[in-house]
Amino acid sequence: MRALLDELEALLRETPSAPALALFDRLRESCARTEAHLIEAGNQLLERDAMQLVEAATRDLVQSERDAFFKTSCDLLCVLDDRLCFTQANPSWQTTLGHDPSRLLGTTLVKLIHPDDLERSHEMAARVMAELRVSEFELRVAASGGDWRWISWTATWDPERQRYFGIGRDVTEQRALAKEVAQAQKLEAIGQLAAGVAHEINTPVQFVGDNLVFITDAWRDTMGYLDALETALGSEQREALQLRAQAIDLDYLKREVPTSLSDGHDGLQRVAELVRALKEFSHQDGGSLEPADVNAIIQRSAVLSRGELKHLAELELRLEDVPRVPCLPNALGQVMLNLLVNAAHAIEERSARQRDCPRRIVVQTRVVGSDLAISVSDTGQGIPPAVQERIFEPFFTTKPMGKGTGQGLSLVRAVITQRHKGRISVESTVGQGTTFTLFIPLLATPGLSEAA
Ligand SMILES: Nc1ncnc2c1ncn2[C@@H]1O[C@H](COP(=O)(O)OP(=O)(O)O)[C@@H](O)[C@H]1O
Ligand SMILES: [Mg+2]
Repeated sequence: MRALLDELEALLRETPSAPALALFDRLRESCARTEAHLIEAGNQLLERDAMQLVEAATRDLVQSERDAFFKTSCDLLCVLDDRLCFTQANPSWQTTLGHDPSRLLGTTLVKLIHPDDLERSHEMAARVMAELRVSEFELRVAASGGDWRWISWTATWDPERQRYFGIGRDVTEQRALAKEVAQAQKLEAIGQLAAGVAHEINTPVQFVGDNLVFITDAWRDTMGYLDALETALGSEQREALQLRAQAIDLDYLKREVPTSLSDGHDGLQRVAELVRALKEFSHQDGGSLEPADVNAIIQRSAVLSRGELKHLAELELRLEDVPRVPCLPNALGQVMLNLLVNAAHAIEERSARQRDCPRRIVVQTRVVGSDLAISVSDTGQGIPPAVQERIFEPFFTTKPMGKGTGQGLSLVRAVITQRHKGRISVESTVGQGTTFTLFIPLLATPGLSEAA
């Protein structure tokens, strides 16, 4: 444009005309102003583009950081629609529960929730929607391997997007630990009570026992004296005495009193054994493993469970000469009790349907590789596979209210696998019986505290 102006100026100067030159000057000025405006506008445009670029870059950065947060979080993060179908799931669903997040998309979370928790989960979903945020409700969610994990949830509802945003944390181990602590505290309280009762019973048991021994001896001596007296008496006096003897049935007394004294003695012996077992159980375990005689622990549990088993099953102990193993004697005693009681219940259940069923519980100890194996076999009704998957779950029970608490096997598992670093195997045939085998390492696992 400048070149055109210069050319025009040169032309005007060749044939100068004052008005044309004045007009030209105005034209040049106007051009200069337009040029300035153009430059200014161009600059403004450039500035705006640059700002937009910076904004876009910042947005990308924030987005990618948010994505990284989503991808690297150890918590289960998910976005669900109003029917609880996944629209997003983070990789923690894979690492924590074994579910490929991309396969979860479009499927419903409901399918993964434990049947017993379904009703509550729907209630929770409704509450979240109403209150927009609900935290710390726990539900069991299926892992890909089939076991149930307790997940603690915090969830929010976004009415604009019509989406749930959920954050879940696996608290299965935490719950088990809390339960174990509660159980240990309960055991401790029961232990203290048992120790007190055992102590109180011990004294009367002892003097009743001493008196029984005294009466037995005295009876024997008195009968000897009576026999001697009878021989020493004249026949007339003997006849008079025999009449008295018949009146009190002396022959019967002579036969029966020693038997009843010895029965009394046996009964008292059993009470004494029970008291001893109670006392041993109530010794607090402390937290450390100590080498102990597992056969003796089993024998004590057998004594303690005798009352429960008596009318239901015959108990056979096949205890091999096994080495002492590092263990928690009281906890292991409780484990054996739980297994024995379960076995008795299983036999009771089967015999309700099959009158003549065998009623036998066999407890066996032996060394298997580097473990001490303790097995408890029963001839009970067996465990169907669907139930077998759940028996170690805390609170799982198939027994009626009042009979089952569902705590027995969860304690067994906690004590054996966590405290002793051992393992448990279950073999069961429905209608025939069940064998639980506990494997306890003969040598304490390094890192576990162990009293020398
Ligand atoms: N020896 C067994 N034979 C058959 N079923 C068993 C046996 N032991 C345990 N079970 C099953 O496992 C469930 C859980 O056992 P447990 O944790 O001891 O709780 P509870 O005895 O209070 O029911 C029982 O309800 C029962 O269905
Ligand atoms: Mg039980």
